[in-house]
Amino acid sequence: MFPLIKDILAESPESQEVVIRGWVRTKRESKNLIFIEVNDGSSLAGIQCTFDRASSVSENTVINTGASVEIKGRLVPSPASGQAAEVAAVSLQLIGEAPAENRPGTNGQPEVFAYPLQKKRHSLEFLREIAHLRARTNTFGAVARLRSRMAFAIHQYFQQNGFQYVHTPIITASDAEGAGAMFQVTTLDLEALAKDGKTPDYTKDFFGKRSFLTVSGQLEAETYATALSRVYTFGPTFRAENSNTTRHLAEFWMVEPEMAFARLEDNMALAEDFLKYVFNLALKECAADLAFFDAHIEKGVIETLQSVVNSKFTHIPYTDAVRELEKAAAIEGTFEFKPFWGCDLQSEHEKFLTEKVAGGPVIVTDYPKEIKAFYMKMNDDEKTVRAMDVLVPRLGEIIGGSQREDNLEKLIERITASGMKAKDYSWYLDLRRYGTAPHSGFGLGFERLIQYISGMANIRDVIPYPRAVGQAEF
Ligand code: 4AD
Ligand code: MG
Repeated sequence: MFPLIKDILAESPESQEVVIRGWVRTKRESKNLIFIEVNDGSSLAGIQCTFDRASSVSENTVINTGASVEIKGRLVPSPASGQAAEVAAVSLQLIGEAPAENRPGTNGQPEVFAYPLQKKRHSLEFLREIAHLRARTNTFGAVARLRSRMAFAIHQYFQQNGFQYVHTPIITASDAEGAGAMFQVTTLDLEALAKDGKTPDYTKDFFGKRSFLTVSGQLEAETYATALSRVYTFGPTFRAENSNTTRHLAEFWMVEPEMAFARLEDNMALAEDFLKYVFNLALKECAADLAFFDAHIEKGVIETLQSVVNSKFTHIPYTDAVRELEKAAAIEGTFEFKPFWGCDLQSEHEKFLTEKVAGGPVIVTDYPKEIKAFYMKMNDDEKTVRAMDVLVPRLGEIIGGSQREDNLEKLIERITASGMKAKDYSWYLDLRRYGTAPHSGFGLGFERLIQYISGMANIRDVIPYPRAVGQAEF
């Protein structure tokens, strides 16, 4: 394989021959020279290629921003500041043009509009409309590299710690969260049925029963954790929630570790150790991209990550957290939503807990059972469950998890109380019938992790093609 620009930039310039392949970012001309900056996405930095004006290069070739090129030359020390090396170019081949102006169709040639990514800075909203081209910008190139490296870091962390990677199903008949926010999967012709005034008969559907896209791989991961001790899943999950926020997607990637013989305390320790490992790797291995985010997206992201890596996460039971919130709510105008015992924490509450109470990441535990999923282990008070949410400043919830109910009777009770049928979860209940053991796990929203590390404000900008309410372009 030929070297990428990042490999070439790592070489010491000794006039060796190099070939650059990539897309033109900018072109400048001086009296004697032509400068073409080429980027191939392998790193934030592109490489400057300098041509003698007198050379035969590109007299008749129009080189615009966005064009793909192949440039041959020698790698030499750069006299310019901000770069160690540049290419003293001898030849240039235009591979694919990118017109700077609209070009009407002629002689059977199709019409081509001007390349939409011109040199100026574009708004993130505009770039969302051209998501198929936005990876060619500095911001989205950096996000893509960060995503890739962090996905790998996640596998590294778990593989190094004895977790086996389990591929849990995407299509499922069970609602893992019991929240009913699922996308249905069917091959029935619902339109034809409706026209004939018939109701769908799901026994005739593809799977012989109603099926959905999974909201979480947890339940299936539990079946493997109670066989292999430590497992994790990492895959796409789907939620048909109508939440149009900067932290929710309808399709997102979730990392879900699950450990047998582990209690909530072990789960909290795992979450903290895992996040610190991943943040640390980002700081070390994505330094250039992080410096870009720090300079152009969110001032201070690097410092925040460093401080989290060196901090000790605060642990606070829900009941104490609500007490803190109620105290603060006594001052008029602190919150839009009044906090009370039993309420789901709103993002403003999460923000307050991380930024004002703890001054860093907080793990809130032991939530009221009414606001948490059926599988969470009941505390002795019979009111709260062994849940944990990891909250981080700026973003709020990044991880949600719990110790699982390992007692058969109690779990049946919770399933029934949640309005579901125990027989639908028979296979899940078997884990409590045969060789039950305390076990725990959590889910980390991968996009929220990337948001936190990069400082990107909108979750739609940290996944290549966001799916959200009313949005499934590309
Ligand atoms: O808190 P959640 O719903 O927990 C579960 O799904 C558990 N089954 C996880 C487990 O214990 N194995 O989701 C876990 C995390 C959240 O903390 C959040 O980071 C992310 O997934 N998340 C979302 N990310 C983007 N868009 C959404 N709609 C999300 N919903 C949850
Ligand atoms: Mg949650």
